[in-house]
Amino acid sequence: MVTILGISGSPRKSATEYCVKEALKAAEEIKGVSTEFIALRGKRINGCIHCDRCLREEKLYCPAHDDDMKELYDYFVKADGYIIGSPVYQMVMSSQLQAFLNRLRPLWPYIKDGYLFSKVGGAIAVGGTRHGGEETTLLAINNFYNCFGIIPVSGGPWAYNGAAVWSQDRREEGAREDLVGMETVRVIGRRVAQVATWIKYGKERADAEGIPVNIRSVGD
Ligand SMILES: Cc1cc2nc3c(=O)[nH]c(=O)nc-3n(C[C@H](O)[C@H](O)[C@H](O)COP(=O)(O)O)c2cc1C
Repeated sequence: MVTILGISGSPRKSATEYCVKEALKAAEEIKGVSTEFIALRGKRINGCIHCDRCLREEKLYCPAHDDDMKELYDYFVKADGYIIGSPVYQMVMSSQLQAFLNRLRPLWPYIKDGYLFSKVGGAIAVGGTRHGGEETTLLAINNFYNCFGIIPVSGGPWAYNGAAVWSQDRREEGAREDLVGMETVRVIGRRVAQVATWIKYGKERADAEGIPVNIRSVGD
């Protein structure tokens, strides 16, 4: 089974959550794909304080904060692909999503050893204004993937960097009305599932034939 994890970075149950769930529905159209969903809304996730305890103590979770982040690491590590959606806040991702992504720093050993290199990710940005920073938000999410060695997935023409949705500041109803934006959401959902499936089965075959797939990070 290939597992795609959807993450909504909105602090409320609204347009972004709707879009991520629509993308997951599209992902499930690909045979053998199952999905999981995490909403960051209502979760207490403090910002990273750069104490480096996770690295020094070689913990795969953050030992500095006792908050809701603890229960989320496992979901992230187990998934084969990600669909991360954010509302556009001042032309970038929400602070809730930024805190979540920063707090994944304890997963550094998985980056160093190349474990995350075979995973893929798609991005969704939901703005209240057309051209209100959807592109820069997609870039920020894709930059996160690049930092972790996760392969960012393009939706091809019309969904180049990911899915861009204009909610007109009218929550789910507004997003639903953006027919072009919602089509990019579904394209990203299917593409992430498709590429994750190709990579998972391709990697299994490569492993069976003794072809090394995981290459350790440079500079280590
Ligand atoms: C603090 C804040 C900053 C925002 N900044 C932008 C922005 O720069 N560009 C934009 O298009 N919309 C902006 N919006 C509007 C939201 O992106 C928009 O309403 C979005 O649909 C919210 O997603 P949600 O419904 O999932 O919460 C902002 C909203 C808030 C609360």
